[in-house]
Amino acid sequence: MEIDRRAFIASLGGPAVVALMDHEAKAEALEHYMEEKLDEMVAAQQPEKFPTVAEIEAQIETRPFRRGAGSVFTGQRGQNVKIIQPMPAKPTLKDFFELRFAPANHVLQSATRAMKTGMSEEIILACLLHDCVLSLIKPDHGWWGAQLFEPYIPEKSAFAIRYHQTLRFFPDEEAGYEYPDQYYRIFGHDYTPPQYIQDTYKMLKNHKWYMEPRLVTVNDLYAFDPNAKVAIEPFLDIVGRHFKQPKEGLGYDNSPSAHMWRTLARPDNPL
Ligand SMILES: [Fe+2]
Ligand SMILES: [Fe+2]
Repeated sequence: MEIDRRAFIASLGGPAVVALMDHEAKAEALEHYMEEKLDEMVAAQQPEKFPTVAEIEAQIETRPFRRGAGSVFTGQRGQNVKIIQPMPAKPTLKDFFELRFAPANHVLQSATRAMKTGMSEEIILACLLHDCVLSLIKPDHGWWGAQLFEPYIPEKSAFAIRYHQTLRFFPDEEAGYEYPDQYYRIFGHDYTPPQYIQDTYKMLKNHKWYMEPRLVTVNDLYAFDPNAKVAIEPFLDIVGRHFKQPKEGLGYDNSPSAHMWRTLARPDNPL
C-alpha cells in the first residue's frame, strides 16, 4: 500500500507534532493509519448493493407521480414543475431539443460517441433521438419513440429506436454490449423482462437489421459525464440530411404522430 506522506503527517497534526513524537509512537501511528486506509480500500471495493424488484415496488406509494410519467410532466427531484417556454409557431426538431428535451445530455453524449466510433448517419441519428420520447412517456419508450419520429426519419433509424429498448436487456459480448449496472438499480437485480420483450428479442436475433438497434445500445452511455460539453450543433448536418422537417412545424402537419408533438409542446393542457 502506498502512503501519502503529506496526508499521513497532516492526520497526526502536522510536521511540528510529528517532530515531537518518539520512534515507537511514530511506528504505532503509521500502523494505525495504514489499517484505516486499508479498511477504506476494502469498503470502496464492496460491490454496490442493488435493490430487488420487491424493494422497488415498495417505493411506488412514496411518490406523488408514477415512474412512467414523461419528464415534462413531473417536477425534478420532488419539486414543483416550472413554467415552460412556449414553442415557436412552426417548431423544428432543434426547437424541441432546446425547449422540451433539454438538457438532453444523454442522447447528445450517445450520438457524440456514435459519431466518434464511425457509425452510419442513420445510427448517429437514431442515437441522437433514441430516448427523447422520455420527455413525453417512459414505459415502452422504444415503441413510443419510434412512433414519434417515424414519419420524419429513415426506416432503419426508426427500427433502431423501436428495438433498442428490447436489446438493452440482452448482452452481446461480440458487439461490445454488457448488461448495464444501471438496470439493476432501475429495475431490481432479480428483474426478468416480460414475455413480449423476450419474444421481440427472439425476432430480432434473426432479423437482417439486428445490428441497427444493437449499435444504439452499444453507443448508449450509462456513465453520464456531467462535465461533458455537448450540443445539438454538430448533428445539424445529419438532421438536415435525414430528418424531414415539416414546413408547417412539428405538430401541425397532420402526420400520425403530430398529436404527440403537440402534447410535448403544451403539456399544461388539462384535456
Ligand atoms: Fe432507451
Ligand atoms: Fe439511452
